[in-house]
Order: sequence, then structure tokens, then C-alpha cells
Amino acid sequence: HCWLVMVHVLLESTLLALLQINTQKTAKGEEADGETSDDTISLRAKKDGLYPSPEPGDPAPPFRVTTLDGEFEYQPGKLRGSLIIHAFTNKSGFVECLWASEASRTDLLQDLPPSAHVLFLSLDDSAVTDALWMRDQLHQVAAHGKKEVLSRLHFCPVPAFALGNWIPGVLYTWACARRNCGLAQVVFTSEGWKMPVIVKRLDARYDWLMVRWDEKSHQLVDAGNGCDPSSTVAGAVAWVSEGNCSFFTKVQNMAKSNASGVLVYALPGNPIQDMNCEGDECDSPLGIPASMVHLEPAVAQRVNVSFQRTPSPNLFIGIDQQGALAEMGLFLYPTFKFINWQAQWFDFYNSLQTRLRSPAQVVSVFDKVQMQGDRGAVATVDLPPDFLDFDTLELDASLSCPGRRDLSCAHWDHTVQLFVCCDHFSPYCNVELGRWITAFRRGIGRWLTDVSPLLPLLNSGRCTFTMKTVPWAMPWIVSLNVRFSDHPANKLRPFTVMPLYSGGTFDKNYNKRYRPVKFSVPASTKQVELFAVITGHGSDNNRCGEFCVTSHHFLINAVYNNTRIFDSAGSPLGCTMRVKEGAVPNEYGTWLYGRGGWCDGLQVDPWTIDITRQLDMSGSEANTLLYFGLYEGRDPNPTQDPGYIIMTSFLVFYK
Ligand SMILES: *[C@@H]1O[C@H](CO)[C@@H](O)[C@H](O)[C@H]1NC(C)=O
Ligand SMILES: *[C@@H]1O[C@H](CO)[C@@H](O)[C@H](O)[C@H]1NC(C)=O
Ligand SMILES: *[C@@H]1O[C@H](CO)[C@@H](O)[C@H](O)[C@H]1NC(C)=O
Ligand SMILES: *[C@@H]1O[C@H](CO)[C@@H](O)[C@H](O)[C@H]1NC(C)=O
Ligand SMILES: *[C@@H]1O[C@H](CO)[C@@H](O)[C@H](O)[C@H]1NC(C)=O
Repeated sequence: HCWLVMVHVLLESTLLALLQINTQKTAKGEEADGETSDDTISLRAKKDGLYPSPEPGDPAPPFRVTTLDGEFEYQPGKLRGSLIIHAFTNKSGFVECLWASEASRTDLLQDLPPSAHVLFLSLDDSAVTDALWMRDQLHQVAAHGKKEVLSRLHFCPVPAFALGNWIPGVLYTWACARRNCGLAQVVFTSEGWKMPVIVKRLDARYDWLMVRWDEKSHQLVDAGNGCDPSSTVAGAVAWVSEGNCSFFTKVQNMAKSNASGVLVYALPGNPIQDMNCEGDECDSPLGIPASMVHLEPAVAQRVNVSFQRTPSPNLFIGIDQQGALAEMGLFLYPTFKFINWQAQWFDFYNSLQTRLRSPAQVVSVFDKVQMQGDRGAVATVDLPPDFLDFDTLELDASLSCPGRRDLSCAHWDHTVQLFVCCDHFSPYCNVELGRWITAFRRGIGRWLTDVSPLLPLLNSGRCTFTMKTVPWAMPWIVSLNVRFSDHPANKLRPFTVMPLYSGGTFDKNYNKRYRPVKFSVPASTKQVELFAVITGHGSDNNRCGEFCVTSHHFLINAVYNNTRIFDSAGSPLGCTMRVKEGAVPNEYGTWLYGRGGWCDGLQVDPWTIDITRQLDMSGSEANTLLYFGLYEGRDPNPTQDPGYIIMTSFLVFYK
């Protein structure tokens, strides 16, 4: 209760201060003091809170806020970790469910990286009770687990609109109307009413019911609990209670009854839930939209419903370890896991910064160059004079967007390839040196990829680099530094490579095109490595090659079966496991699913395996190698739309 009083006092004093300022202004007139220099005006604008809000990538200014435990102070460089700011509002069905779900809260406490802090704010008048409630919700689930994390959670009882610092400016100007922010609503209307009744809703899980609500007004018809298939709701939106059968059964019954959509209401006292299918249910596509709402008493009469989205302030802001402001991306469904993933990425990015500070000869190939169309991005550069002396070659690549915000980024995930040509007469001219997959609409990707085995491709001191994606993709802004360094621990250096196989259409003839390769090991070779970059794309009847489990075999001397299996392809959270390695989290698409050898917003890691002991090293043509690719252990045999494999593979000889 003491918090209630304090905030009241605070609000009152703020009001008083505002009144005083206004009175002074009226008395003195706008520019009465004669100070007109630009600096003074911008300084005064700043004092009045009118300065432009910082954008993503700008340094986060210091601030201090009251919390339930006293005070939280942010000073750049002091935190030694990242900070996530979450603005709560119970006007959002998404946020209500984010908090009501015990799984979501437990995930936050269990998986929030040890470096991350979270500051919880409220956008509403109820900030004091919201802060106390949020703390209580998290303390409840912390009972069993480790409690250390609680010291990194900060609850502010002052509403965002009374903070008096830059945070609300960022929340308001980074406003959004996506699944995780903006207010999804249902509008109930009825003939006798002067005002519509507008309530919050939460749409069913994004990858279960893909159909969206249209803009029309629909009649709403009560269909009990929706568990009975014989309802008369054709052409109307069905109004059904939760419980007695699964969400899937309700929506399926209503779809069979030709309803145009389903509104499931929570029973009194229950929160809105994240409606999803379970197990086999998910294999039956349903063609109507569904959302969950609270029980609305006004629905007793004849009403119509329509669906709308009202923009809201942004509900999430990040500050990375370097003190830069960051967007938090899209939360595809209500779970705090999305906070954890973004914080994991901040950790990745911080360790990347450390790795980039290690000594290297850096050749800048692209510095914020636009990559688009058939040509992509092209540059010719000189390598360091002593480039032949280095044993390590790394690609430091990043993809950003034409604007500061993620909204300006290209929408789709496309394959990006980097080709290099140093000697135009060499068979290695325009061979692939690196591969990445673009993120769905997020511009934060930066990756350091070790491609040392391919050093022999740099066979002259001046090289042309070409970076491309499909010509129809929206533009990306690329930066690429090629880093040469030397590590005395590596006693060997690759001196030559032998190209092996490339991929192709993943159909029943896929393996017929591959013939055994006979080869001898060059004199003075100390080690031989197999090097391959393999990715599966497309979608046949088995969802190959993007979402099916394929395996890739390099059979050496008919005995050694060197195997790479993409066993997380198609798994619901496969690519979330790779955020720690730099996969861009919280993208505006299905980035979470595991894929065939790749993830959205990540480099494709080369696969290398030392095969020296599998070979006859005598120098005779005694070795054979054969590649084949399988789907679930067999030759692929799709019945429609075969997918394809993109592969670059080499033998690498070290001395
Ligand atoms: C949020 O709103 C729902 C009804 O809309 C209510 O039942 C619930 O108690 C509210 N929660 C908080 C924390 O205010
Ligand atoms: C209610 O919905 C019906 C069916 O979609 C429509 O024909 C009618 O115009 C709507 N009424 C109002 C008042 O919007
Ligand atoms: C449906 O569920 C409610 C709430 O769980 C329960 O009270 C009711 O008895 C159930 N009705 C039927 C027909 O099973
Ligand atoms: C639903 O629509 C189909 C196709 O128009 C029709 O054959 C079927 O009888 C309808 N079912 C109900 C329950 O109205
Ligand atoms: C290699 O391994 C794969 C799967 O482990 C198997 O299906 C295949 O038959 C093996 N091939 C040979 C020639 O041993």
C-alpha cells in the first residue's frame, strides 16, 4: 500500500510541475528570453523531452528507476550483461497469456542467461499492483528452482507514462502491431447498442491455424462447448466455451459445421490460453481462424463480431552488452523463451566482439554495400603481401537492412553464397567460399566462419569476391572482412584442395549421378581432410530437403562410411538450439524449426573430418571415394516437387 501512496504523490507532483511550466510559458512567451541558437533550442527541446528517441543500435542513455527493491540504475558499461525491458499491459491477450502460462514463467527463470537482467514496467495506471503481481508470479515458480535469477529481475511500480526518462519515448516510437505487440481485439456490436464492446483476444498458435480473420462483420452464434459436431453455425462465428474436449476438436467440429471462425471463451476466473493442436491433431489442417477471449456477458444478446488490431507501444526493448539499444523481434507465441533467446544472442554477439579483437590481418571486402539483383555485391581486393604464411582464414560477415529498424529488412530466408576468384585461369575461379541463410526480416546477423581449409583457393594476391542471393530478394546491406591469422598450435597448413561433388535435385536419381573418384595423395602430405558444406532445400511430399532428415555419406575405400546426418530437420525448436552459435532469434517467420543443415540467420558451418587414417598415403592411385545422400536411410523417392541439395565438397591436403 505504501507504493500506492508514493506513486500518487509522484504523479501529483509531476502534474504540479507541468502546470507550473505551462504558467511560466504563458507569462514569458515562447521565445521571450531571446535565445535562438540551434544548440540552445535543441538543448531546451531535450529538457522538454522532445528530443528524437534513440533508434536500434544507438547507445542507451543512462537511467534510474524506482523498483520494489529500491532502485535500478543503468550506467553504460556497468552492468556487464544485457538488459531486457518489458512493458506489461493487461490490455493485451498475448501479454496476459505470456504471464498466465506457468510454463512460460518457468522458462524465464530456468533459461535466462546468467548475464541478463530484466526490468519489468507497466504501461497502465495499475503499475503498482502490476509490479507486485508480476513479482509474485515469478517468485511462485522460483520456489523449486535456483533463486539467484530473482536478483536479476527488477520490478518498477511507476507507470511508463510517469517515468520521466527516455524509455517511454522508445516504447512509443518503436510502436508495433505484431503478434507480440499491438492489441488484437474482438469488436462486439448489436443493434440497440450506442457503443461497441471491445475485448482483447489471443489468436490460435501461428503454425496451427494459419488462416487470418477477415475484415467483415460476422454473426456470432452460441455453440455450447463446441464438442458436439452437429451445430448450426454455418456462415457465422461460433461462440464456444473452453473445456470438455480439445481446442482442436472444437475448431474441427465448427469447421465441419461450416462456421467462418471460432471464438473460444475462458470460463470465469480462467486466463486466456495459447490454443494449439497436440500430437496427431496437428496433421489435420483446418481452414478457419480461431481466437480465445474472456467470457463476455454482453454476448447473451444477438451480436455481430469483427476483428481488429490496435497498435500499442512496443512491449520489449533490449540493451546489449555493448550498451546499444536493440529491437527484440517477433514473439511467435506467448512464452518468455523469446526473451531468453534474444539474451542468448546478446551473449553470442558479445563473445563475437571478443573474438574479433584477436590479432589478424583484416582485408575489408564489403563495407555496408548493397547486395541485390543478378550481380549481388562484387569487389576486387588485394590480399596481405604475406597471405601465404597464414594458417587461418575467417569470414567476418554481417547482413543489415536499408533502414535502422527490422521493418526495413528483406522478408524471406534465402541462401547467400560468397564466391571467390583469384586466378582467372585456375579451375578454382568462382568457387564457393562461404554460405549463409538470411534471417526473416531481422538485420542483426553477424557471423565469423572459419574456412581455413579453403586457403588454397586464394591462389593469387588479388581476388574478386562476389556475394549473392536470389535476384528477386529485397536488398541486404552486406559487410565482409576476410581475416588472416596464424596459430602456432596448428602445425599444418593446407596446400592444395581437390574438388569432389556438388548436390542437385533430391529425387530417385539423386545418387545415380555420383561416380567413385579415384585419387592419390600428393607427396609430402601429412594430413587429409574431407570438407563439405551441405544444405537441403525445397519441400516434396516428405518435406525434403528443408524439413526432412537426410544423411550424407562419403564412403572411402569401400569401408569408411563418413556420415553427416541432419537429424534436427523438422523438429519444432531445432534452430533455437543454435542461437548461442549466432542464429538470429525472434525472426518474422518460422525460424525456430530445425532444417536440413542450416538455420535462418546463420552461417552454414563447414563440416570437416580427418580421413588420413582411412587412406593409402603411398602416393599411388589407390584410394576411392563415393558420395551418396539418403532420406531416412534410403534413396529419396518423392512423389511430387522434389527438393534439392546444395553442396560444395573438397579433399584438403595439409603439410
Ligand atoms: C488481466 O485481465 C483479466 C481480465 O481481462 C483479469 O481476469 C486478470 O485478473 C487481469 N490480471 C491482472 C494482473 O491484472
Ligand atoms: C452482422 O453480420 C451479418 C452477417 O455477416 C451481416 O450481414 C450484417 O450486416 C451484420 N450486421 C451489422 C450491424 O454489422
Ligand atoms: C464440461 O466441463 C465443465 C468444466 O470443467 C464441467 O463442469 C462440466 O461438467 C463438463 N460438462 C460435460 C458435459 O462434461
Ligand atoms: C457445409 O457446406 C457444405 C458445402 O457447401 C455442405 O455440403 C454441407 O452440408 C454443409 N454442412 C453443414 C453442417 O451446414
Ligand atoms: C553408411 O551408413 C548409412 C547410415 O548409417 C547406411 O544407411 C549405409 O548403408 C552405410 N553404407 C555403407 C556402404 O556402409
